[in-house]
Amino acid sequence: MDKLILITGASGYLANALLPYAAQRARVIGTARNIEDIRGDTLSLDLTNRTAVLDAVLSKRPDAIIHCAAVNPGGSDADMIAVNDIGTKHIAEAASELGCRLVSVSSDTVFNGKEAPYADDAIASPLPDNIYAVTKARGEAHIRSLLPDAAIVRTSLIYGTDKMDRGTAGFSQRLAAGDTLKLFSDVIRQPVHDQALASCLCALALDHTDESGFIGIAGDEAMSRFDFGVRMLDYWGINYKNQLEESSGIGIPGLPLDVRMTMQRAQTLGLPTPGVSLVLG
Ligand SMILES: NC(=O)c1ccc[n+]([C@@H]2O[C@H](COP(=O)([O-])OP(=O)(O)OC[C@H]3O[C@@H](n4cnc5c(N)ncnc54)[C@H](OP(=O)(O)O)[C@@H]3O)[C@@H](O)[C@H]2O)c1
Repeated sequence: MDKLILITGASGYLANALLPYAAQRARVIGTARNIEDIRGDTLSLDLTNRTAVLDAVLSKRPDAIIHCAAVNPGGSDADMIAVNDIGTKHIAEAASELGCRLVSVSSDTVFNGKEAPYADDAIASPLPDNIYAVTKARGEAHIRSLLPDAAIVRTSLIYGTDKMDRGTAGFSQRLAAGDTLKLFSDVIRQPVHDQALASCLCALALDHTDESGFIGIAGDEAMSRFDFGVRMLDYWGINYKNQLEESSGIGIPGLPLDVRMTMQRAQTLGLPTPGVSLVLG
């Protein structure tokens, strides 16, 4: 336990699984802007403030940073640019200045969805209307140019079996309000279990420290957004009788249809990538 990991986005959904997992392997400092909800050692840190980021990293001197902070779809364009693009640049600058390991979390939505399955080193091709994807791809590019030794993990929809993911929570609210839910049957993702992803991120931060560049890590079961939605609603015992409809994502601006990844590097490294059926049984 002599290693120190600094985790950004420590109040977020992924961090809910990552923080306790990482704490079994190392000392951990969790950072976010609002730190009330975080367990353990914490630091309030706004990633848009370059000086604050550099000061924090250079004073805490972590062995590794796992960068999970982001503004996800639903946030404002300005916030996505400030955090996913510029904030990620600040983290890369700080990690480079200190010379520490950086593992950064990116998204399968950096791909345009037209050339699946995507290899680990596939070039980002975000759809221009998807500002989240554009800003995540820009964050990736900053890391590649500032700290080529860093690992950038492209992942898929994150779900947990202890805490409901945001997508399912939103569906649940709309169903409870009596809405009909239309879910895409031609949008293909590889949902990833939060515990498995946490274990992969820690392994890259602490064990496979020579692994650099892009690594696709998700669940090894590709499924449509409709099928995944049904699996999650069933798992959480949410009633959706007569309120679900299959729909198509074709023609929706900024929506990549098929972003499956080959995940060859994860397989070679023996990282766990269980699919939904294996996790849920
Ligand atoms: N969730 C998914 O299905 C999914 C899918 C693919 C990829 N990802 C990626 O996985 C990572 C984790 O996602 P998540 O869903 O766990 O995120 P999340 O729940 O939305 O949490 C985002 C975190 O970022 C922090 N943050 C936002 N703006 C910040 C700022 N200016 N300064 C410092 N911290 C800031 C938030 O803290 P405050 O609220 O305190 O600011 C929060 O802790 C992200 O990189 C995301 O892009 C997620």
